[in-house]
Amino acid sequence: MTVVETARLVLRLWEWGDLEVLTEIFAKPEVWQFPFRRGFTDKETADFLERALVKQEAGIPTPWAAELRDADRVVGYVGLSVPEFLPEVMPAVEVGWRLDPGFWGRGLATEGAAGALDHGFGVLGLEQIVSIYQPENVASGRVMERLGMIFDRDTVFPGRHLALRVYRIRRDEWPVADAP
Ligand SMILES: CC(C)(COP(=O)(O)OP(=O)(O)OC[C@H]1O[C@@H](n2cnc3c(N)ncnc32)[C@H](O)[C@@H]1OP(=O)(O)O)[C@@H](O)C(=O)NCCC(=O)NCCS
Repeated sequence: MTVVETARLVLRLWEWGDLEVLTEIFAKPEVWQFPFRRGFTDKETADFLERALVKQEAGIPTPWAAELRDADRVVGYVGLSVPEFLPEVMPAVEVGWRLDPGFWGRGLATEGAAGALDHGFGVLGLEQIVSIYQPENVASGRVMERLGMIFDRDTVFPGRHLALRVYRIRRDEWPVADAP
């Protein structure tokens, strides 16, 4: 089921049939360099997809499959989730992205994330959305800035000594938000 459409992307619910392409994408080390510094095993990708299916069935925010309209192909994920891994920002909803390297550098993450923010503010009526990344992940930080998100704080991943940076944006700071 399609949740968000942008000029080039369809953000939709996951299906078991996505496993093959997702396994191929997630196996690439650069895709999971942050935070794991290696690609996913087949089992890790299957577990990821299973968790996503369970969450979407339960109505818990989890990033959507990002499909390239023209190619009719899954290129990664973009969407909203609940950042339980960082209790200090909770309660919160996060916008995030992870794409196949063959599709980086075309503005797709920014475009998909803008659609996710439209959905979060306009359809779900959220007051604020955060985004969290490791500061060495320059591309991810650029996506946040291009979206007009604002630096909130630097912190550490609990128990892992991993630097994290939090950005945020409120509904009244998002230009196309149309609250329900
Ligand atoms: C982060 C990611 C989704 C960006 O996707 P993208 O579609 O290439 O992003 P965009 O094309 O919208 O570009 C965003 C910015 O990142 C920059 N960028 C892209 N790849 C980059 C790289 N390897 N190094 C530095 N900057 C990079 C772009 O130039 C652009 O910045 P600009 O506005 O200064 O030109 C992609 O790099 C990715 O999937 N990375 C691995 C997964 C990941 O780390 N996800 C985030 C976890 S917090």
